[in-house]
Amino acid sequence: MKIMVIAAHPHLNESRANRALAAELQQREDLLYRDLYQEYPKWNINVEREQQLLLSYDRVIFQFPLYWYSCPPLLKKWFDDVLTFGWAFGTGGTQLKGKEFIVATTAGGSEKAYRSGGENLYTISELLRPIQRTVTKCKGIYLPAFVTYNANEGTDAYLAKEAVRFSEHIRTSIHALIS
Ligand SMILES: Cc1cc2nc3c(=O)[nH]c(=O)nc-3n(C[C@H](O)[C@H](O)[C@H](O)COP(=O)(O)O)c2cc1C
Repeated sequence: MKIMVIAAHPHLNESRANRALAAELQQREDLLYRDLYQEYPKWNINVEREQQLLLSYDRVIFQFPLYWYSCPPLLKKWFDDVLTFGWAFGTGGTQLKGKEFIVATTAGGSEKAYRSGGENLYTISELLRPIQRTVTKCKGIYLPAFVTYNANEGTDAYLAKEAVRFSEHIRTSIHALIS
């Protein structure tokens, strides 16, 4: 299975959590790891190139720090620009049919805070529904998200462990992920 990770962090030089996740994956050669903010510092996303890349991968991971319960803006722009009518959805838009998508996010909040009645009221799965629906609107398969909680408080050892868990999660078969 061919895996492409699209990471989006506006300040990767100040990051600890996403940098730890990136470091674990970048040392492996069995996937393509991409840093959207580094590739497009002027936000001029190359739609044709992105669509070609999507066509040649089976599973796509969107990795980002949770910002205001959502993704950073360049990744939102990537969705807006790349998932075009007639290509990703709408009449004739079937290019992503059957491809697998996974969100991988780091949150400052704790797992306890992300539940009904908790500080943030909703689970991360609930908050990620716009991305889930974007994927399913494009006939992709939306798989369970990977979440690192307490991303700001974690020790280096905790983040290194999370990075290994992340690496395993994105390689887990669809059957094991959904069972
Ligand atoms: C603009 C901004 C918005 C944020 N919004 C949230 C949020 O909605 N929920 C949350 O749990 N953490 C939030 N955080 C905390 C980040 O998710 C956290 O700092 C990040 O995941 C840590 O990863 P990093 O070390 O790679 O930057 C926010 C941080 C920033 C800077």
